[in-house]
Amino acid sequence: MIDIWTEKYRPRKLSDIVGQDEIIRKLQSFVRHRELPHLIFAGPAGVGKTTAALSVAIELFGEDWRDNFLELNASNERGIDVIRDNVKDFARIMPSNGLGFKIIFLDEADQLTPEAQAALRRTMELYSSATRFIFSCNYSSQIIPPIQSRTVVMRFRPIKPEDMKKRIEVIAKQENFTIDDDAMAAITEISEGDMRKALNILQTIKSSGEMTASRIYEISGMANPKQYKSLLSKALSGLFDDARETLDSMMIEQGLSGIDIVRGIHSVVRKELISPRQKLQIIMALGESEFRIVEGSSDTIQLDALMARLAYIGQEFN
Ligand SMILES: Nc1ncnc2c1ncn2[C@@H]1O[C@H](COP(=O)(O)OP(=O)(O)OP(=O)(O)O)[C@@H](O)[C@H]1O
Ligand SMILES: [Mg+2]
Repeated sequence: MIDIWTEKYRPRKLSDIVGQDEIIRKLQSFVRHRELPHLIFAGPAGVGKTTAALSVAIELFGEDWRDNFLELNASNERGIDVIRDNVKDFARIMPSNGLGFKIIFLDEADQLTPEAQAALRRTMELYSSATRFIFSCNYSSQIIPPIQSRTVVMRFRPIKPEDMKKRIEVIAKQENFTIDDDAMAAITEISEGDMRKALNILQTIKSSGEMTASRIYEISGMANPKQYKSLLSKALSGLFDDARETLDSMMIEQGLSGIDIVRGIHSVVRKELISPRQKLQIIMALGESEFRIVEGSSDTIQLDALMARLAYIGQEFN
């Protein structure tokens, strides 16, 4: 059986969680004082919300953490009644630890309707002497005010490249591979602060060959930013046929879709040193193309039209 790295390398200690420094410090302080308020963990995917909740449980309850930690998923456990029954059953058995409370982790809490959240709030009150709730969600604004006011909200951020690097280096050492700066930059760029995504890409690359930046872009269905830069500069200098040729190779050989390409150009434009006015025009053109493609226009015609528009924009600023 192969181990999935996201699980194999899920930190079990708060100190192994990278980034989120302030949150980790607060959680460590709760653990030291052996107390815990109700919490909301808000933030994007793959940044350590579930991991932090598990680590808190492991650090508070030690070996017996499983008896003292209930994980529910608001979008799976269909309906508030099921959640309520689960909470009731779990809360009825007194905590087997010396702390006097157990933890209920409710994932995707923002998927519950406001009515369901109101019912949950009453359940929370009912069992609050022996339970602490940790709600996980993308946006805390989706949680009703009466729950928010009873909890401490902790905002998780996308993992910064340098923090991601720290964790990846630990894993690289254990898995015996090396990763050069270009490959590391490719991983952090593609994963956009999502550690789960980063680890999944790394594992795929590792199991199938060399760890190079170009393979990382290829496997994640993304063209190299260098390619987008060259496409953009060809189009802006009016080399329509050259640009068209690059487009063909990206679409046919690398299997990228029209949308992939528009979004790829967008990500390099934002970082390129182009005059602000020209940048605005390019971005408006990209927005237009994206909209049309999403609405069902032909990829080829829209990309050709985009190349043509870029040629005009290039001319205007020469
Ligand atoms: N801050 C972090 N430090 C170290 N590893 C991390 C961190 N965040 C995520 N990971 C890795 O990514 C995996 C997924 O993280 P986790 O389950 O905590 O994400 P999440 O924030 O709960 O995301 P979701 O909203 O999708 O549930 C973990 O198993 C771990 O391997
Ligand atoms: Mg999670």
